[in-house]
Parts: sequence; structure tokens; C-alpha cells
Amino acid sequence: MDQNQLKQAAALAALEYVQQDSIVGVGTGSTVAFFIEGLAQIRDNIRGAVSSSEDSTAKLKAAGIEVFDLNAVDELDIYVDGADEITAHKHMIKGGGGALTREKIIAAVARKFICIVDKSKQVDVLGDFPLPVEVIPMARSYVARELVKMGGQPVWREGVVTDNGNVILDVHNLTILNPVELESQINQLAGVVCNGLFARRGADVVVVGTEQGPQISE
Ligand code: 5RP
Repeated sequence: MDQNQLKQAAALAALEYVQQDSIVGVGTGSTVAFFIEGLAQIRDNIRGAVSSSEDSTAKLKAAGIEVFDLNAVDELDIYVDGADEITAHKHMIKGGGGALTREKIIAAVARKFICIVDKSKQVDVLGDFPLPVEVIPMARSYVARELVKMGGQPVWREGVVTDNGNVILDVHNLTILNPVELESQINQLAGVVCNGLFARRGADVVVVGTEQGPQISE
């Protein structure tokens, strides 16, 4: 099986968690695209979705699934999203697709975060994948200098503007031994909107696509 087939297997296995008549939190990325395809097949069983990006909103609408504003939704059973890296503690790096801020907001609302990944995303220590940090444009150079002081090597994702109108710094060369602490530390820099460490609120369920079938850890 290639990587896409493993992503698809994980995504389709996550459909088991979708409750009848519920509103589903939907992430962003290629693994989530498979989840949206699956959700389209059962769209008559759900009320709709809240979406973490313009990209996913377009895919959901094209699939005939109603997209709700998060402010119109009091509670959310599940949020389903991919990750760039995930540890055995269910801490993640996310934001490869640039949607980290809206992803983190929906994850905060949801009772259960279901992370869908192919097995290549599993790591012992976070940091090989450059850590995305969403920054208010005028703070880009300041935040970059501060991230260098923390031991990272930030690279501006040039040409990319997030759905929130901000820029992204991808921080290379981090070996993240304490993701909970680093997540808070980076958040405290003036001008940082959000960083791609999802450790303070990690995943609750991880569905990993493997050749042996989807492996689920709760
Ligand atoms: C987007 C994300 C994605 O979940 C992450 O980048 C994984 O993407 P993919 O499923 O395409 O491998 O955080 O901001």
C-alpha cells in the first residue's frame, strides 16, 4: 500500500466515530480530504460540519455537506484531523497546510480529537518536521529573532498568507523534548497568533493507517 492508501484507510476508519445527527469538526489536508469523501457517503446521517479552513469548507460544500459557523455551535462531539508528526503521548506537530490556528480552535471546542495519520507520521521526538508558527505580518522579523534565541532556525513560508491574513514561519532544527512547555513559550511571544504544537490539547484517539489495517489507540 502506498502512503495515500494508508491515509485513506485511517480516514475511513474514523467514520466509526461519527454520531448520528451530529455536527462534525473537520480538519485540513490530504488525509482529511479522504475523510470528507467518506463523510459525503453518510451525509444524510449528520447535520453538517464545522471547518478548519477555506479549503476544507470548499470540499465539504462540494460534497453536499452543510458548513456551520463555529460560533453557531454550542458543542462538538468530535474533531477529525491529520498531523505532520505524532508521538506515543498523542502530542502533535500540525500546520503543514497552514491551517493551524483554526484547527486549534476547533480542537479546543471538541470533546474528542481523532487524529488520522499514515504510519510515517509517528515519531519518538517531535521536531524533524519544521514547526509552523502563525505570526501577525508586522511581527515576522521580531518573532523570527526570538525563535532563533530558542534554538530554532525559522524560515518564512514566502508567498503564503493564512486564511486569517497572517504569515507562517517554519522553525527547523528543533528537538522538542518538552512540547507542552515549548507550546506555551512560543505563544507568549508578541505577534504570535498560534503555533503548530498540539500538546496542551493533544489527540484523544489516534487512527494509524498501516499495511495490517487501521490501528486505533484511545
Ligand atoms: C494542516 C495540517 C494537516 O493535518 C497536516 O499538515 C497533515 O496533512 P496531510 O494529511 O496532508 O499529510 O495540520 O494544517
